[in-house]
Amino acid sequence: MTHLPRQYHITTFGCQMNKADSERMAGILEEMGFQWAEDPEQADLVLYNTCTIRDNAEQKVYSYLGRQVKRKHEKPDLTLIVAGCVAQQEGELLLRRVPELDLVMGPQHANRLRDLLEQVFDGNQIVATEPVHIFEDITKPRRDSTVTAWVNVIYGCNERCTYCVVPNVRGVEQSRTPEAIRAEIEELGRQGFKEITLLGQNIDAYGRDLPGVTAAGRHQHTLTDLLYFVHDVPGIERIRFATSHPRYFTERLIRACAELPKVCEHFHIPFQSGDNAVLKAMARGYTHEKYRRIIDTIRRYMPDASISADAIVGFPGETEEQFQNTLSLVDDIGFDQLNTAAYSPRPGTPAALWDNQLAEDEKSDRLQRLNHLVSIRAAERSQRYLGRLEEVLVEDQNPKDPTQVMGRTRGNRLTFFTGDIAELKGQVVPVRITTVRAFSLTGENVANPLVCA
Ligand code: SAH
Ligand code: SF4
Ligand code: F3S
Repeated sequence: MTHLPRQYHITTFGCQMNKADSERMAGILEEMGFQWAEDPEQADLVLYNTCTIRDNAEQKVYSYLGRQVKRKHEKPDLTLIVAGCVAQQEGELLLRRVPELDLVMGPQHANRLRDLLEQVFDGNQIVATEPVHIFEDITKPRRDSTVTAWVNVIYGCNERCTYCVVPNVRGVEQSRTPEAIRAEIEELGRQGFKEITLLGQNIDAYGRDLPGVTAAGRHQHTLTDLLYFVHDVPGIERIRFATSHPRYFTERLIRACAELPKVCEHFHIPFQSGDNAVLKAMARGYTHEKYRRIIDTIRRYMPDASISADAIVGFPGETEEQFQNTLSLVDDIGFDQLNTAAYSPRPGTPAALWDNQLAEDEKSDRLQRLNHLVSIRAAERSQRYLGRLEEVLVEDQNPKDPTQVMGRTRGNRLTFFTGDIAELKGQVVPVRITTVRAFSLTGENVANPLVCA
C-alpha cells in the first residue's frame, strides 16, 4: 500500500450537463485529498461519467470499462465508478454485468459523491439511482477552463420526446433559485471568469417549478427574468445559454437578448426534423412553420445572430419526402452549425418499440446527405465574417500551433490568431478576420498588430 496521495481520473462522455457534473465531482474528490491523474492507467480511482443518448455512446463506456476491470484484477484497491446517464439507466444491472464496480451513481447524485465514496471505503458496493431532490451545490468545482464556466440553472426535463432517454435518466425539472445562481456567477466574476453559459436540457422551462406568478399570471422566474437578474454581475463579460426548445421560445426572450449587451447573439435551438408529421410523431409540440418564425424573429432583432441546432435523420417511418423537408429547412435557414445524428432506438422510449424502423444503411445515407448540405451552408455563412472586425474572447493556446491563441466570437465561431497566451488569456481582443472555414476562422489582432506590413 502506498502513502502517496491517491490519484483520480475522470473521463466524461456526453453533453455539457455531464461536463458540469464532472467538474463538480472533481472538486469533491480534490477536497477529499485526491489528485488529478491525466493517465487513467495511473489512477487509484477511475470515474466514467457516461452518456446514453445513442447506442454508440453507451457502448463506448463498456469498452473503456473493460480495460479498467482488467487492471482491477491486478490492483484490487482500484476504485471503479460509473456515474451519469448509463448508470441511471442500467442501475443494478450494471453491477451484475460488471461486478468489479464499486459505485454506480445517477446524475442526480453527483453532489453526493463524498457520502457515497465514504460508504464504498467502508467496504460496500453502492447503487445510487433513486430520484432525489438535488441539493444546492456547496462544493467548489474544479473547472476545466479559467475563462469560461458552465452554470446549471435547471436540471432534468419534463418533455416526452418519443425518441429521448433524457427524462428517464435526468429526472423531472428542478430549477435552482435565482439567488443561488447569481451567487455562483458573482463568485465566478471574483475568480476572473469572463464568460458563463447557463445550462439546462430545456432551459426555457427555467422557473416553472419555482413559486411565484406575476399580476399578469405568468411565472415570476423565467429565463428572461433570470438574464436581467444576473446581467450586471461584475467581471462577467459574456453570457450564453443552452439548450432552447422551440415550443417555449418567446419574443420576450429574444428582445432581452437584443437589449442586454453581455448576452451573445448565438442561439442553439434544436429542430430535430423539418417535417410536421415527423415532428408530431416525435411529440415535439411545434411545426416547421413555427420554427421558421422563431428564426425570423431572432433575425429581425439581431440580423447577424448565429443559429445552431440539432437534427435527427431516419426517425421511425421517415419517408424520403419527409427527409427532403429537413434538407429544405436546413437549406432555407442556413445554420452556422448543426449537430446531426441518425436515429438510435433507446430502451424505455416509445419510438424504440414502433415497427416502422428504418434500415441502418438508409439512416447513414441520409446522415451523409444532410452533413454534406450542412457543411456547404456553414461555409457560406462563414463568408460573412471575412474582413470583419470580431471580438474574440481568448480561451487557450492553439494546440496545433503554439504561436497562435484561440477563442470564440460572440457568435460562437472558433477563431485563431497569432499571439501570446500568457498575455492574452481571458482578454476580449478585436480581431480582423482574414481566413474563413466552414466551422472556424483565422484573423489578426488589430489592438496590437504583431506583424506590420
Ligand atoms: N434537450 C435538447 C437536446 C437533448 S439531447 C433538446 O430538446 O433539443 C441532444 C440531442 O441528441 C438531441 O437534440 C437530438 O438531436 C439527439 N438525440 C436524442 N435522442 C436521440 C436518439 N434516440 N437518436 C438520435 N439522436 C438523438
Ligand atoms: Fe430529450 Fe425532448 Fe427533453 Fe430535449 S426536450 S431532453 S429531446 S425529451
Ligand atoms: Fe447524454 Fe445524459 Fe447528456 S444521455 S446527452 S449525458 S443528459
